[in-house]
Amino acid sequence: MKLDAESKALIQLDKVEFSYPGYEEKALDGVSALFFPGRCYTIEGPNGCGKSTLFRILLGLNFPDAGTYLFDGKPVTKAAMKNSRFARDFHKRIGFVFQDSEVQLFTQSVEDEIAFGLYQLHLPEEEIREKTEDYLKRFDLESVRDRAPFTLSGGQKRRVALAAVFAMDPEVIVIDEPLAGLDEKGQRWITDFLKNRKDSGHLLIVSTHNRDFAGVIADVHVYMAEGKIRRIAEEVLSCRK
Ligand SMILES: Nc1ncnc2c1ncn2[C@@H]1O[C@H](COP(=O)(O)OP(=O)(O)O)[C@@H](O)[C@H]1O
Ligand SMILES: [Mg+2]
Repeated sequence: MKLDAESKALIQLDKVEFSYPGYEEKALDGVSALFFPGRCYTIEGPNGCGKSTLFRILLGLNFPDAGTYLFDGKPVTKAAMKNSRFARDFHKRIGFVFQDSEVQLFTQSVEDEIAFGLYQLHLPEEEIREKTEDYLKRFDLESVRDRAPFTLSGGQKRRVALAAVFAMDPEVIVIDEPLAGLDEKGQRWITDFLKNRKDSGHLLIVSTHNRDFAGVIADVHVYMAEGKIRRIAEEVLSCRK
């Protein structure tokens, strides 16, 4: 019988191992964790400890060599991803922002960038227009709406990538190193934004090696080192919601 806690977790990792093809070293070496909706998890640890690799597994870009990854109770495997219905449902429910926002911006304008994902969801035209306006406003991007994303500053690019993902309203949002490459103002903006989003019922999973940032946004700190989770610590105060 399943434990009650496990049955409520949206994401369950059980003894996940992963090595990059051609490398013997385990980038993930027996990672087990439960992730619950309505919480912000920070994945913390030094460079090379496996944060981005963990995210590639969570996003279904790589698959465990051993152990299991369950999303809403269903195994996320290469075979499952070949089922287009499963893959579509999975990608709709989990959104991500790469460390390098540039790689995920590909349209001709900021406005199109936000609308693109909404078209993928097959929403009515009117709703797409409304949501696009709403997210241009929320992310302070109205003044650059017609600009090509690749011409923007690092902070603006990150805001576009975040706006495009949040507009689609996935249940799980994974963000790799949200503060990387941003100046102080950009860092403050992202930190405040994520703080505000914590109460929206989404599951946020954010990697960082910045302890101050983690201290401000985490409900749960997941500390990694050398491909393993060393400790999982709950923030007592922020969990009392
Ligand atoms: N594409 C890759 N090919 C081979 N090894 C990789 C690759 N990406 C990461 N690694 C290795 O996997 C380990 C974990 O890296 P990574 O997940 O990127 O760590 P972090 O995001 O915490 O800095 C490191 O030893 C790194 O060198
Ligand atoms: Mg990384």
